[in-house]
Amino acid sequence: MTIMDYKRGSGEFLNWVVTESAFDSRYLGKCESIFCQGNGYMGLRAALEEQYVGETRGMFVTGTFNKFDDGEVSELPNFPDITKLMISIGGHPFGMDRGTIKNYERTLNLKNGEVTRSFHWTCDKGDEFEFRFRRMVSMENEHVIAAAVEITPVTEDIQIEIESGIDGTVTNTGSQHFSEGAKRIYENRFLEMISETTQSHVLAAVHAAHKIFTDGKPAEVTLLPIIDRRVIRIRYTVNVKKGSTLRFEKISAVHTTRDLKYDGWKEDDAREDMKLRAGQLLMDICEKGYDRLLKESERKWEKVWNKQEVKISSRNDFDQLALRFAIYHLNIMVKKDDSRVGIGAKALSGEGYKGHSFWDTEIFILPYFMLTQSETARTLLEYRYKCLKGARRKAIENGYEGAMYPWESAWIEDGEVTPLWGAADVVTGETLKILTGLIEQHITADVAYAVWQYYIISRDEDFMERYGYEIILDTAKFWTSRLEWDEEKGCYGIKDVIGPDEYKEHVDNNAYTNHLAFYNMKLASKLICELKAEKPVVYTRFQEQFDLEELGERLTECIHKLYCPLPEKETGIIPQFDGFFDLKSIDLTKYKKSSVVGTIYNDYNMEQINSFQVLKQGDVVVLLYLLDDLFSEEIKRKNYLYYEERTLHDSSLSKATHSVLANDLGLKEEAYHFFEGACCIDLGTEMKSSNSGIHSASVGGIWQAAVMGFGGVRVTSGQLRINPSLPEEWNELEYRIVWRNSTLVVTVTRDEVKILNQGKEVTVIVGKKELLISEGAAIVESI
Ligand code: BGC
Repeated sequence: MTIMDYKRGSGEFLNWVVTESAFDSRYLGKCESIFCQGNGYMGLRAALEEQYVGETRGMFVTGTFNKFDDGEVSELPNFPDITKLMISIGGHPFGMDRGTIKNYERTLNLKNGEVTRSFHWTCDKGDEFEFRFRRMVSMENEHVIAAAVEITPVTEDIQIEIESGIDGTVTNTGSQHFSEGAKRIYENRFLEMISETTQSHVLAAVHAAHKIFTDGKPAEVTLLPIIDRRVIRIRYTVNVKKGSTLRFEKISAVHTTRDLKYDGWKEDDAREDMKLRAGQLLMDICEKGYDRLLKESERKWEKVWNKQEVKISSRNDFDQLALRFAIYHLNIMVKKDDSRVGIGAKALSGEGYKGHSFWDTEIFILPYFMLTQSETARTLLEYRYKCLKGARRKAIENGYEGAMYPWESAWIEDGEVTPLWGAADVVTGETLKILTGLIEQHITADVAYAVWQYYIISRDEDFMERYGYEIILDTAKFWTSRLEWDEEKGCYGIKDVIGPDEYKEHVDNNAYTNHLAFYNMKLASKLICELKAEKPVVYTRFQEQFDLEELGERLTECIHKLYCPLPEKETGIIPQFDGFFDLKSIDLTKYKKSSVVGTIYNDYNMEQINSFQVLKQGDVVVLLYLLDDLFSEEIKRKNYLYYEERTLHDSSLSKATHSVLANDLGLKEEAYHFFEGACCIDLGTEMKSSNSGIHSASVGGIWQAAVMGFGGVRVTSGQLRINPSLPEEWNELEYRIVWRNSTLVVTVTRDEVKILNQGKEVTVIVGKKELLISEGAAIVESI
């Protein structure tokens, strides 16, 4: 069952619009999330204006984390709502679940970020109306949200009432993060709610103003201000003639004392300045009105698309739409100039995962930014640098040295924020302890891996000297303290972890973790030697902090003696961890076929799942993708086939990596199948799986599957390789990447690849050839 339609765009909007083609109050969450609007500073769920049971209104402002009480972890609070309108027509509340609806359509226009909804409504009494709702979050001014509603009575003159304002009763599933605060209405027009987060003391100012017209002229209205507990609004009453259009505009502004502007300010000064500016901005934007604000924002979107578009000529138009959907969300999920904030696993589109950042950023999202917007990638890695303090604290708390990155991160000072308790065990009924914060440790190496990838792609020496080296050295130091001597094996191992496959807990020597830890330590060891020889000043600086001689020696010892699982002689399969092959095999058909994830939990508890050869998501497969040149193609193929058969893809991170690897191995149909699967994680027919927010790693994965997979981009051994291979369904793929400050426009057809270099001379490996492409030149190679 789906009410989504992806074929409605035409002309200049062909493959640009995502449409909800019918209203069904059972599935409100899907479009609230996937139609989320934003600009990196804030994200606004696309809850409908009028209220329905089951809706989840949500507005999240990056970095405003708050901890509700000691039993909870820091989370992104849900801001006072400005989307709700209470509309009464002829004295009766309006709702699409009353009367009859015709010609319903709600769309997200990916080109300009606008969400519109239109339909013809016949009320129970038989009177008819045309409705049109529009909403935008500005890309031009990150503080601005605007909405417009048009109502045209078709059959009768009618009295329309609209109650609109700021609603501070919203919570994060019951946790109220804001104080009651101060509420005020100025000049019967401007509404203000200033409240404060209860623990982090972030002051949030939400402002709103209204403009009301009939047939383009200011309307005659009567109004009633209402100030109540946590609520402030105005009720407008207007008489509208048959055939006339009532247009109601609501212009809002959101500011907080956590805004980047106030970084380092004295608290009182920030509060005063923020209130002043917020008020002034509201006057300004109210003057501009919806249409001008939209135009301004559209111009910013145009710039994004001019630089970021990936063009696909496919038999399935959906592929192009899905790529645009991914790029749209990638561009609204991150505040590109603020290194105090990361990317949430649900971006800013829902409460899921509490706004926390995971390895999703480094492994699944950052490649997009590294290869298209280097500055944003740098900002995101600086965020990890700023989180070092918390990582060091976590290491000490766990009895280790160096930097042990939190599995889940929130505000830079928060450290580990993984909740302690999760769902109930289906067998025992007891609440399950979440172990990832304690033993899913590969994230520490993932961060170091991403730092180095960024450097290889950008050659940003300044970043390395200020932040990069320190992250790599301190994470490597952590691993040296983390390894345990294994008498039996006669080498070091890493015991009691969770690898990327979270269906296995308390495992020893997880292949992914061990290989990435090895990579992290080897990299640090190499950098110590290089710094000593080539950058003595930097070396001396770190010498003081780390005792590099001693660290170097420890690293050498650890690298030589760390056990990294290798392919078994007879089978060529790398054990995912010690004893994986001894686990029981069960029939997974039912779970593999299910369109809903996690159904295995309906039948088994974690202890049982732990004893089966079943994977939640790629584990060894991700290792083979990241450390591309570690194993031969034959080994990769064997492992891919072996593990895929046992993988349920119950994490949204799984399918995109499988697509890339399958394509590398020439398994074209599978590669395309997994690409489509990744695209359908949010856009698919499953109507509830996005309820708590979009899947930001999967959105990054869609881009990777297209550009790294079919587009063949890989950064291995310090070099850029482009070995594309299109799926049967595609005729052409065009993408842009930035390699060492040069923009390359890559056009792939079925039998050729053309690389146009818009920057300085670069070297690219295509097939087995190393090609020098000079400034402004293009090369064409057969594939
Ligand atoms: C996955 C993790 C991921 C997290 C956040 C979990 O379901 O298993 O790999 O980091 O979701 O997206």
